[in-house]
Amino acid sequence: MTDAKSARGSRRPAQKIQRLVVNLQWHRKRMAVLAAVGEGEARRIGKAAGRAAGDFSDQSERLKRARAELFLQQEIGEVPRPPWSGRSAMREQSPVRSQAISGASAWDGRVVLLTALSIGIVILLTGVGAMRVVDRRPFQAGRWPQMSFRTMRKRITKHRRIRRTRKIIAGLLAAGAGIKLEIGAGPVKGKNGWTTLDLSDEADLFWNLHRPLPFPDDSVEIIYCSHVLEHFHYPQLMALLKDCRRVLKPRGIFSACVPDASIYVRGYLNHESFDRGKFFVHKPAVISEARMDIVNYIAYMDGQHRYMFDPENLVRILSEAGFAAVRLRDFDPALDLAERKYESIYALGIKS
Ligand SMILES: C[S@@+](CC[C@H](N)C(=O)[O-])C[C@H]1O[C@@H](n2cnc3c(N)ncnc32)[C@H](O)[C@@H]1O
Repeated sequence: MTDAKSARGSRRPAQKIQRLVVNLQWHRKRMAVLAAVGEGEARRIGKAAGRAAGDFSDQSERLKRARAELFLQQEIGEVPRPPWSGRSAMREQSPVRSQAISGASAWDGRVVLLTALSIGIVILLTGVGAMRVVDRRPFQAGRWPQMSFRTMRKRITKHRRIRRTRKIIAGLLAAGAGIKLEIGAGPVKGKNGWTTLDLSDEADLFWNLHRPLPFPDDSVEIIYCSHVLEHFHYPQLMALLKDCRRVLKPRGIFSACVPDASIYVRGYLNHESFDRGKFFVHKPAVISEARMDIVNYIAYMDGQHRYMFDPENLVRILSEAGFAAVRLRDFDPALDLAERKYESIYALGIKS
């Protein structure tokens, strides 16, 4: 007995006794079998059992080897590993497999990072673009527009409408047909070859007439306006008329219809005969029965009017804006609104 064995034996006497008991039981069983079947038969059974045990151990050995081979192939990636194989712990510990796994996750990480970076850049650029639209000032890092979300949304909508207007005008110019433009037309689309322009989005073109017209020089055949010029203070009115002249082609016509304020001034002077039922149409602009409020009606029109016309100053103003051959004209049923005839005067001028 070696030292190690004696040490083990001395350390575990209980186990040794147990093993002796098992051996004794096995011998007893063997004796019982010998007694039951005879010695020859017992030897034959023993040999068969030995062969079977040998076969079994061979088979289990081969099975073990096949499994090890399969595992190796899976490790180097020749054979895919089924997802349900319960060897995750082993796989994680395997250097080949863990290398492959960590390579894949590193790649995934890079894709996620790149995608997040791209989205961030797009958001930043959109934000800067939107800021330029709403603020109309060059972008400055760290400065954010001081305005409500509602105002911001309004400005973005306006920007979109203006872009649409410019696109339509580009189409009109490319088509090459003579452009007939009605400015301040209200919320209506143009008919019979006319293009309408107004602050209303329902007109063909959305535009604020306080800004220069979005047409190039010498590009429009005729410009018409009805009850629009009185909505501008004198300086803006002159700027608008001069800009109309700029965009008209040589020999192009500017034709206007405005309310005749002299009707109301005469009403002040002869207030007993002034027909309030006929001339006080826009009720919010009627202030009182007082004589001066007859004049206030047409002068301010509930805060909408900024200038008064009569036949004399209409002609003078058009001439001042640079139009030639300016003259008053009659009501034109093909152009003018019949419902405005009772209080209107008409004039035209030509771009020389
Ligand atoms: C009294 S309405 C006349 C509408 C139509 N022309 C008519 O005779 O019935 C005045 C029109 O001028 C438009 N208008 C006033 N100021 C404007 C501006 N700055 N830019 C564009 N349109 C303007 C208004 O939107 C409105 O449609």
